[in-house]
Amino acid sequence: MGRLTNKVAIITGAAVGMGAEHARLFVEEGAKVVITDLNETDGAVLAKELGENALFVKHDVSDADSWADVVAAAVEKFGPVTVLVNNAGLSGPEAFTADLDLETFNKVVAVDQTGVFLGMRAVLPGMVEAGGGSIVNISSAAAMAHLAGSPSVAYTGAKAAVRGMTKATAIEYGPHNVRVNSVHPGAILTPMAKNLMDPETIEAFAQTLPIRRFADPREVSYTVLFLASDEASYMTGSELVVDGGRLAE
Ligand SMILES: NC(=O)c1ccc[n+]([C@@H]2O[C@H](COP(=O)([O-])OP(=O)(O)OC[C@H]3O[C@@H](n4cnc5c(N)ncnc54)[C@H](O)[C@@H]3O)[C@@H](O)[C@H]2O)c1
Repeated sequence: MGRLTNKVAIITGAAVGMGAEHARLFVEEGAKVVITDLNETDGAVLAKELGENALFVKHDVSDADSWADVVAAAVEKFGPVTVLVNNAGLSGPEAFTADLDLETFNKVVAVDQTGVFLGMRAVLPGMVEAGGGSIVNISSAAAMAHLAGSPSVAYTGAKAAVRGMTKATAIEYGPHNVRVNSVHPGAILTPMAKNLMDPETIEAFAQTLPIRRFADPREVSYTVLFLASDEASYMTGSELVVDGGRLAE
């Protein structure tokens, strides 16, 4: 308890899935959390569950203008933002590269890559002014190797870009005590995974992993919590893989 006391965090895409679990753990550990998502219904239910230390703001991470409003809402309700978790993500279905239409490609990149850039850009001035902060960018194990098993040039490319953008920004803002790290989940049982695979495919895929199961979202939340907290005070520009051993093979 209390590993995030006095932290004010924004977590994007936090109405369901991993983002929602990060929000629950952050509040348990003493943070004030602004949950953002396009999904107003589930976002509002979660904010109610979490009580006075949470606020839901409807938000599209790919919309540049709305980021200023999200930061302003967080500052007004809780004070200067010291943690950002860029979690919102969009995946498939995609086609093989030669057959993928530009509209689909741009839609995925807008959320998975541009959204991360916009988020970092929006919070950095306040973090510098506050004397520091922690940004955790949710990439994917797919940023290190093509693991999806289905066409994913836009998703894989955007997640690899997040890995690079994390390091570029970490180097720029290290002198201001703003840390920027990326997390690379593998197979996590969330609505995203359930949309992509039926239960039989999930079970068959799980049997190919060194740890023979999908992860519970909370198993990623603990990694995000660590990077957000002062326990990771000397970590920046780094990447933590949470994939049940898949990339070790
Ligand atoms: N589930 C996995 O196995 C897995 C593996 C690797 C990486 N990831 C990444 O982890 C993150 C969370 O994934 P998840 O599995 O919990 O996904 P999810 O689909 O279950 O939840 C994602 C949330 O993001 C929201 N969202 C989508 N587009 C948005 C936008 N433009 N603006 C704001 N919110 C938006 C959705 O409404 C949803 O609530 C994503 O970045 C995803 O790419 C997931």
